[in-house]
This record gives sequence, C-alpha cells and structure tokens, in this order.
Amino acid sequence: MNKLIASGLYKSYQSGGHTSEVLSGVSITISEGQTIGVIGSSGSGKTTLLQILAGLEFPDQGSIYFNEINLLSNNSENFNLMRKNLFGYAYQFHYLLDDLTVFENCDLVFKIANNKKVLENSQQIIQILDELGIAELKNKYPYMLSGGERQRVAIARAIVHEPEFVLMDEPTGNLDQENAEVIQNLTIKLAKDHNIGIVVATHDLNYAGKLDTVFRIENGDLKPT
Ligand SMILES: Nc1ncnc2c1ncn2[C@@H]1O[C@H](COP(=O)(O)OP(=O)(O)OP(=O)(O)O)[C@@H](O)[C@H]1O
Ligand SMILES: [Mg+2]
Repeated sequence: MNKLIASGLYKSYQSGGHTSEVLSGVSITISEGQTIGVIGSSGSGKTTLLQILAGLEFPDQGSIYFNEINLLSNNSENFNLMRKNLFGYAYQFHYLLDDLTVFENCDLVFKIANNKKVLENSQQIIQILDELGIAELKNKYPYMLSGGERQRVAIARAIVHEPEFVLMDEPTGNLDQENAEVIQNLTIKLAKDHNIGIVVATHDLNYAGKLDTVFRIENGDLKPT
C-alpha cells in the first residue's frame, strides 16, 4: 500500500528580526485512499504543513518518504522528479488562471507534467468534470463561475492527473452550507473511488466529522481529536 510518511518536521519563519516556529516536530502518515482532516485556529500552521507535504515549501528539519523513497534527499531531487505526478494541490484561494477556460485550466496540469497523451487526457478531464457536476462549464472562464463552481474546478485540477495524494486547503471556505456539503461528499467519494490519500485543512467541523482521521494542529504539533 502506498504511503506518504513525514517525520519530525520543523519550520520557522523570520519576520521583523524575530523567529516564530510554526511546526515543531510534526509527524504524519497518509495511506492511499485515506481521508485526513487538519483543523486548528487561523495561523496555527495548516497551510504551511500542506505546502511542505506537497513539496511546495521545504522544512528546516525532518524527512518525507513516499514508500521507501526519501523525497528530501539529494537537495530534494526526488521531490522535483515526482511532485507533479505524486501530488495534486487545491489552494486556499483557488489560483485558477483567468485567461484559460475550465478545460484549459485542467489541461495545464498535463502540460506541466509533459504528458503527451492528448486524447486520453481530454477524456479524463471531461470524466472528472462530469463527476464533479461541472462538465457543462468546460468552455467557460473562471470569472463566469460562482465561488462553488470555481472551488470544484480547483478540485478537478488537483485530481485530474490521478495523483497518489491530494492536499486541499480549505476547499469549503467561503461556501454556503449546501455547496459545502456537495464539495465534502464529492472529495470523499473521489478519494475512495480513485484510491487517493487526501489531507484537508479545514475550519469546517461538519466536514472534518466525515473524514477517516482528524488532527488538531496546536503549538506546532498535531494532536489526535
Ligand atoms: N512565508 C511566510 N513568511 C513569514 N511567516 C509566514 C509565512 N507563511 C506563513 N507564515 C506564518 O506562519 C504561521 C502559520 O501560517 P499558515 O498559513 O500555515 O496558517 P493556517 O493555519 O493555514 O491559517 P488559516 O486558517 O488562516 O489559513 C502564521 O503565523 C503566518 O503568519
Ligand atoms: Mg491556511
């Protein structure tokens, strides 16, 4: 079974001549198909942890293994080689590209991964958009979409290339309860159907309650809830 194993992660930021430690030895294991929630107050380090797990930022100390492969060895060479295929990331603030349609925003993931199977990729994109209930929006631009629809495009983009793990930062932030529930159920179903391990940072306790495991991040460490 595929696993992502992070151990002893430390991360500090400097600002205004003073250092604040955001992560103080965090360890977490994510197995394929497992859904994990990370809750905690604003500024507690949820985004920092997700970005480190996805190789978008680097810890000051600690290790991250995918199965037996040390992703941080050789100057993070393995992370650089594997990041695009191993991970999908749905950002806290969407970051959809405004000049690209819904379809093109998703297709970009394959372009970045240098994946040339154009026809197969197109079918895959349409299938995922369909599973998320937004296939009919494929030729629209982000400014034409509602917040909930944009949220779904961001999730489609995070999973369309069939990564092993998807990190989602507040995927139901700024949504009404009805749309939030749609996203909650869809992301959990996607994880189970595609056997993807997901980590969700969320303030939404209703969402957290539906996930396999939930941790609270507090004083730089993860505590079981
Ligand atoms: N690049 C950075 N430089 C300096 N400080 C940073 C940086 N990124 C994050 N921080 C600080 O690290 C702490 C944790 O931030 P982080 O974004 O991980 O919190 P969060 O739990 O995701 O909060 P929220 O719930 O508001 O999204 C905050 O105090 C923040 O100011
Ligand atoms: Mg955050």
